Amino acid sequence: MEKVGVIYWPKGGNVEIVARKIYERFDKANADIFDIQSIAVTDLVNYDCLIFGGSTVGAETWQEVTNNNKWYAFFSELDKVNFKDKEVALFGLGDQILYPNNFVDSLAFIKNEFVKRGAKVIGKWSTEGYTFTGSDAVEKDGFFCGLALDEDQQYNMTDERINKWLDQLKAEINAG
Ligand SMILES: Cc1cc2nc3c(=O)[nH]c(=O)nc-3n(C[C@H](O)[C@H](O)[C@H](O)COP(=O)(O)O)c2cc1C
Repeated sequence: MEKVGVIYWPKGGNVEIVARKIYERFDKANADIFDIQSIAVTDLVNYDCLIFGGSTVGAETWQEVTNNNKWYAFFSELDKVNFKDKEVALFGLGDQILYPNNFVDSLAFIKNEFVKRGAKVIGKWSTEGYTFTGSDAVEKDGFFCGLALDEDQQYNMTDERINKWLDQLKAEINAG
């Protein structure tokens, strides 16, 4: 059985609520949940599949990845871990009405940190049902590189999206 780690930031908002919902859908014997400040990066080796979640709060912050961004410290440690045999999936919170040009941009930023270290990214997601004009998270094939969620504008769709995405993700994990 694959061991799954759900890792998220920030605490205390929509990202944490969603992270806990995702964790609840796994067998507790095979899954753990941490915020990024509560796990040593070297302990990521304990997991076969890592699910990372974050929010986009200011496209500029993400592009620059300033020292105020807690993800920065986390990313700066990632070279200590071999991600070549790891599966990585992503979920991201955003607001497609207030930030239509940068909807869930940070999904792409987080993804790139793992892709460049050799991880296999799983769990892409259709853009159907969202209204936005631009997102770094949309790939060449037209899919988001992970699960996009909008608790500000489409909160009533979140649970269904999580359930569908996890069904898909679990099938991908089992497919190896
Ligand atoms: C200052 C600020 C900037 C934001 N910028 C973006 C953005 O560029 N793109 C986006 O999709 N959402 C943006 N959002 C929306 C948040 O990502 C969204 O509200 C999310 O649910 C917040 O989750 P959190 O409270 O766990 O961080 C922004 C929100 C704030 C407060």
